[in-house]
Amino acid sequence: MKLKTKTMEWTGQSLKLLDQRKLPFVEEYVECRSHKEVAHAIKEMIVRGAPAIGVTAAFGYVLGYREFKNGNLKEWMEQVKYTLSQTRPTAVNLFWALNRMEKVFLENINEKDLDTILENEAMRMAYEDIETNKAIGKNGAELIKDGSTVLTHCNAGALATVDYGTALGVIRAAVESGKRVKVFADETRPYLQGARLTAWELMKDGIEVYVITDNMAGWLMKRGLIDAVVVGADRIALNGDTANKIGTYSLAVLAHRNNIPFYIAAPVSTIDPTIKSGKEIPIEERKAEEVTHCGGSRIVPEGVKVLNPAFDVTENSLITAIITEKGVVKPPFEENIKKILEV
Ligand code: MRU
Repeated sequence: MKLKTKTMEWTGQSLKLLDQRKLPFVEEYVECRSHKEVAHAIKEMIVRGAPAIGVTAAFGYVLGYREFKNGNLKEWMEQVKYTLSQTRPTAVNLFWALNRMEKVFLENINEKDLDTILENEAMRMAYEDIETNKAIGKNGAELIKDGSTVLTHCNAGALATVDYGTALGVIRAAVESGKRVKVFADETRPYLQGARLTAWELMKDGIEVYVITDNMAGWLMKRGLIDAVVVGADRIALNGDTANKIGTYSLAVLAHRNNIPFYIAAPVSTIDPTIKSGKEIPIEERKAEEVTHCGGSRIVPEGVKVLNPAFDVTENSLITAIITEKGVVKPPFEENIKKILEV
């Protein structure tokens, strides 16, 4: 069984991941042959983006199952799941994918072909992700007017998913439907996902893209140069509060102030049904070097303290709509998210 996209390749025996730390300058794949190598790839951001992390972890679970030698299989798989889950705390897709794999494992624990059953489930998840993104794109494209300039933050594109992307999926679908769309990509300090990844993949697709530094968005909005903001999500609470890359909240405030629609594009698997509001979302704090250094060079004086929260939470009142594969969810979010979860 095989799967191959630009972001990841499942060879049947291993998972090859495009090393996103090296983009846009080097296109190199890292081959993971064990669940620990997969966990390392997620933690070190060789692969990143909520849906991509989820599917990667699912394949890590399959590799973990194959590493079992003797002893208690159930306990071994609990350990495998634990190792994979301790990589990044904010994107709920990681836990969603691992729970889904664990359910299939427990339901089929006595089956002879459990290996194939688990591999099939991970493959299904990967293909579903692409289909889901195309549906998000189709639903979202209707909200983008011909001739629009769309601002996006971080990278919620093909690289952050198995393929096609969520926020960039909306832009891709709008372009595919014949609309003229221009994209402003926030550079997204400190990790520069916008400058390095979003610009790279949109340029390759021939979609007109301008990189702007994060502090330019407000002024461009004020001058009427931005028609809509579309971003991805790492975790959405039941009331619609949304965690996404640090800087998303500032954009939402600015969009609100300037009467610009602010859209979240995400699969239903990014909705965490266990939390009522964004206050409960754990925010990953990453290493100081990402802030003190840029492109390998120190930019902050030695000894100065820094903060590095990787995500922020945008409250539901700042969100115009959440674009999912099952439809566009509008306020009141609490009521309408429940409805979409029931479909
Ligand atoms: O730290 P990252 O690069 O994993 O953060 C990614 C984001 O914040 C994305 O916007 C989000 O995961 C959605 S990806 C479709």
